[in-house]
Amino acid sequence: MPYMKNWKRYTVTAALPYANGPVHIGHLAGCYLPSDIYVRYLRANKRDVLFVCGSDEHGVPITIKARKEGVSPQQIVDKYHEIMKQSFVDFGISFSIYSRTSSKTHHETASAFFKKMYDEGKFIEQETDQYYDEEVNQFLADRYIVGTCPKCGNENAYGDQCEKCGTSLSPTDLINPHSTLSGAKPVLRKTKNWFLPLDKLQPHIKAYLDEHKDWKVNVYGQCKSWLETGDGLQPRSMTRDLDWGIPVPVAGAEGKVLYVWFDAPIGYISNSIELLPNDWEKYWKDKDTRLIHFIGKDNIVFHCIIFPAMLMEHGEFIVADNVPANEFLNLEGDKISTSRNWAVWLHEYLEAFKDKQDELRYVLTSIAPETKDSEFTWKDYQARVNNELVAILGNLVNRVMVLTDKYFEGNVPDTKGCDDLQKFITEQREKVTQSIEEFRFREALSEVINVARHGNQLLSEKEPWKLIKTDKEQTGVILYDCLQIIANLGILCEPFLPFTSKKIFDMLQLDATAFSWKDIGRQDLVPAGHQLGKAALLYQKVEDEIIDAQIAKLQQTKAMSAPTPEPVKAEPTAKAEITYDDFAKLDLRAGTIIAAEKVEKADKLLKLTVDLGSETRTIVSGIAAHFAPEAIVGFQVCVVANLASRKLRGIESKGMILMADTADGKLEFVSPKNLTANGSMIS
Ligand code: 2FM
Ligand code: ZN
Repeated sequence: MPYMKNWKRYTVTAALPYANGPVHIGHLAGCYLPSDIYVRYLRANKRDVLFVCGSDEHGVPITIKARKEGVSPQQIVDKYHEIMKQSFVDFGISFSIYSRTSSKTHHETASAFFKKMYDEGKFIEQETDQYYDEEVNQFLADRYIVGTCPKCGNENAYGDQCEKCGTSLSPTDLINPHSTLSGAKPVLRKTKNWFLPLDKLQPHIKAYLDEHKDWKVNVYGQCKSWLETGDGLQPRSMTRDLDWGIPVPVAGAEGKVLYVWFDAPIGYISNSIELLPNDWEKYWKDKDTRLIHFIGKDNIVFHCIIFPAMLMEHGEFIVADNVPANEFLNLEGDKISTSRNWAVWLHEYLEAFKDKQDELRYVLTSIAPETKDSEFTWKDYQARVNNELVAILGNLVNRVMVLTDKYFEGNVPDTKGCDDLQKFITEQREKVTQSIEEFRFREALSEVINVARHGNQLLSEKEPWKLIKTDKEQTGVILYDCLQIIANLGILCEPFLPFTSKKIFDMLQLDATAFSWKDIGRQDLVPAGHQLGKAALLYQKVEDEIIDAQIAKLQQTKAMSAPTPEPVKAEPTAKAEITYDDFAKLDLRAGTIIAAEKVEKADKLLKLTVDLGSETRTIVSGIAAHFAPEAIVGFQVCVVANLASRKLRGIESKGMILMADTADGKLEFVSPKNLTANGSMIS
């Protein structure tokens, strides 16, 4: 096993998240918790570790978000970089550095990396046909092209993927493609880009993967299928025709930037340079350094094939020894989605669950999607916190502290405890160690909880609260052992639950830094006679109301999720004055769109089914150019309910939806701020 090798040091990376939204539980469960647990464990073993992350601030995800919010890409990354960075701090993700790809160091490092490869002839220059939008005068990134999926007929498939049937596409596969920037039909134009010849590099990549058959099955399998499907690896362009990113540093490349998947992983190196300008090289160039990338499954090809190929071709760097990618976490039966706002955002979690970071860390580690997709539900969160953290770990610590205070004035009883304990805890340490080393963090955490379970069993069997009446000495032995269990738990749980660990050490009045992983198993961590601190509850029971409020909030958020509005061209003009009576003639009501579909042969029309409380209406609305039908289902809107009905394309439309042209040139639904009962009057 590679972990048995005597590595001199570790470079651990966690995927650089796009700075296009706050951090959510899917991010945390996917790669930030596993990497943090692993790094904390390595540090507890006194290993030399560099833990690198930062914001990924380039690429189309950023420009799309900027368009959606009507601000510049720079404003987007400035805003979300700070929010994300704070969330990681709040949840105890212990990066050595969290920087950003807009940094000067990164721009220089990524440019130099590209330039070296370019100068050494590692790229092939190739002219290809790319879609171009003649109305806005720009080449279109795959995500900016929408059309009909050739596989399933979905009319809103993107240029790189159909989200309905999951097929990977290229823009030219789409039937009836159109630009999401202007709605125009794009034309094919020739453009020059620089490609990494992955086809030629395939033998090197294959040899590299063959050396790593120990990788997680999901990771190794996906890599193999990239190599073995169709004609195998294909040349991939490392530059893009885009105006946001790192300029391609060669003559004749004006208006082009580095492909975001070329620049982002180099961010791991740049951020290391930023932190350790004089000492970074050993973390990236020494063969005795173990490089490990923690990522989500959508990043596998980039970290297991493309980035290693770049590093090999560059020639100066080590490549990853392991890439323990996780699958995806779903939320309450649906895929987590930033754009649909279907998520539990970390900063919002903390508003509702102040100081309860470890509760979330615990639940997310317990359900981590290590081998297959998994599911977060609030009811499960409540059950795990109440039945495991509160009832097992919290209960043990509290009972032992209170009993020791009561019977021994908070002094550790003067005894050596019972012999079995050392053996049991040492065995548990080995189990946890092996599970962590093999990236099975769920299993590792459950073995930690088993140690607390053991303590509770000891208490239930020996009943010190009864024994004290007849045998104070034996009561002391039991409490002594339980205190040692708690102290051992302080070390054992630290990688998973760092806030809990700190509370335990504070209660025990011990200096956590005095212990390392190898101390786990010792039966004298808290010495006889030592004065303990005050008992404090580690966790509180999660009540139904709190959970119900979260579920309700999520449903509301889903209904209110923002669509992607498009710019409107016309300036608003003032209309003639009306009287109050004119206005009062309008019957305005709140309604929820419960179904939406395109109207055949009418580019602009959507047929909406709107729930108005006492009735359901069909309304035909001219918003098809602005909203994908499936994206607006669940929105609550304002309806003019007494508008005379009229037929549009053979469909009887009964009413109208109110829309707003926003100041920054977008189109939005006019919606009640908070969900209200459908059918409610708006006046
Ligand atoms: O999927 C993502 O969120 C990417 N921003 C991950 C990049 S990882 C690395 F290459 F930087
Ligand atoms: Zn499809």
